[in-house]
Amino acid sequence: MHSDVERLLFTEEEIKNAVEKLGERITGDYAGEPPIVIGILKGSFIFMSDLVRSIKLDCDLDFMIAKSYGNAAVSSGTVNIVKDIDADITGRHVLIVEDILDTGRTLDAVRAILLHRSARSVKIAALLDKVTAERVSDLKADYKCFDVGNEFVVGYGLDYAEKYRNLRYIGVLKREVYEH
Ligand code: IMP
Ligand code: MG
Repeated sequence: MHSDVERLLFTEEEIKNAVEKLGERITGDYAGEPPIVIGILKGSFIFMSDLVRSIKLDCDLDFMIAKSYGNAAVSSGTVNIVKDIDADITGRHVLIVEDILDTGRTLDAVRAILLHRSARSVKIAALLDKVTAERVSDLKADYKCFDVGNEFVVGYGLDYAEKYRNLRYIGVLKREVYEH
């Protein structure tokens, strides 16, 4: 294990199994109506690549970069789309793929933007759900792999200051790494 990681939360094997199961569920739910799957970069890139290979449908893929500013008390007005999708989603089923749902500020704004473009439906697949976090709205994950507590986690796409994304597992980051 990386020396900056305090505790292992989910092993490579556990993640693989959970992502495959989720892909099977999504395959069943969208049978006959393949969604466009939109990954929110960068955190979702590993989850997205594993998840879509477990979705046995002809789904389209696209990516978006969204940056949120301000603190958790400020609601979704402060989210900026840095890179938009290329696809026209009018009348399409959209599945947003995100690494972790925390305050929900980012996803709440992204969902509103996509619905405004007349998507037929917008659902959210999150690898992790910070269940104790205070949410900016009633937003919730339609699909998720794991719940986590109020801790800072890294690995499998999730970073701290752009590091640890390439860890094969998910773990809790040592406090001393981000508290100086
Ligand atoms: P939200 O908009 O507050 O839900 O924040 C979601 C984003 O915050 C995620 O996409 C992550 O980039 C980041 N984030 C929140 N909690 C964690 C964590 O524990 N580890 C790594 N990134 C996190
Ligand atoms: Mg992120």
